[in-house]
Amino acid sequence: MRLKGEVALVTGGGSGLGRAIVDRYVAEGARVAVLDRSSAGLAKLKEAHGDAVVGVEGDVRFLDSHKQAVASCIEAFGKLDCLVGNAGVWDYITPLVDIPDGQIEDAFDEMFAINVKGYLLAAKAALPALYKSKGRVIFTASNAAFYTSGGGALYTASKHAVVGLIKQLAYEWGPHIRVNGIAPGGIIGTDLRGLKALDLQDRSIATISLKDMLENVIPVGEVATAEQYTGAFVFFATRAETVPLTGSILDFNGGWGVRGLIDANLGAELEKRFSEKGEAA
Ligand SMILES: NC(=O)c1ccc[n+]([C@@H]2O[C@H](COP(=O)([O-])OP(=O)(O)OC[C@H]3O[C@@H](n4cnc5c(N)ncnc54)[C@H](O)[C@@H]3O)[C@@H](O)[C@H]2O)c1
Repeated sequence: MRLKGEVALVTGGGSGLGRAIVDRYVAEGARVAVLDRSSAGLAKLKEAHGDAVVGVEGDVRFLDSHKQAVASCIEAFGKLDCLVGNAGVWDYITPLVDIPDGQIEDAFDEMFAINVKGYLLAAKAALPALYKSKGRVIFTASNAAFYTSGGGALYTASKHAVVGLIKQLAYEWGPHIRVNGIAPGGIIGTDLRGLKALDLQDRSIATISLKDMLENVIPVGEVATAEQYTGAFVFFATRAETVPLTGSILDFNGGWGVRGLIDANLGAELEKRFSEKGEAA
């Protein structure tokens, strides 16, 4: 119960990583408001958590949706301690060369409206409540916030922009509010959708085997589930354990940044050395 008595607001909590964060926060003793455009996702949350969760149907591209979510959160739970900006969309690693001239402007606007403006507006709407509670902000970034090839130019640029937003808000809001990010890698079990402007809105990341795609190229050798990512979101939301923490982004993606030129890791070498000495596990 590391979040007993705390109140969080999670955008995109109706599915995937956001849903796992809500489940974990409730299990840790928090009450949670959720802003999501999926009424079905919100209904399932209500079914699972009853009065511990309040759902608000809305679109993260609009300030009014965020204001409504903050107001509902305060009406239901009396305060807001932690904002988790998390709702996002992907570009299915579409290279710039393959985006037709007629779609590029709308695709850019949609990507940045959801992945960047959605976080900026959430922060703007939550600021008065967070100032009052001396609260926390956590933004879900991505491996694409630091490295290439986890997205196309649109997604990678949007997640790099999230890094700038975290740093700037940590500066603007210190010492009152902690602002940090978590940059997950591939996540097993989510429904991440593509851009409508690229006709990818009905495509789900669940149709791709991230296990086959990633487990041989990341040093940890396995792809984590949404639940396995949630521990970091609990830690970043706690008060006592995060006194020195602001403006930081956890590179939480299986070691993408330390993989070798040829091999993902040298685990096979290590196994060979130990088996030569008869010390194999
Ligand atoms: N899935 C991955 O492998 C992966 C990897 C790295 C980072 N991420 C990031 O994790 C976050 C969560 O993604 P996920 O994989 O859990 O996806 P998901 O689609 O399972 O969940 C996203 C939720 O956000 C909601 N949403 C999307 N656009 C919205 C909008 N305009 N307004 C309101 N709600 C909206 C959806 O309805 C959904 O409930 C995103 O920021 C994504 O970029 C995902």
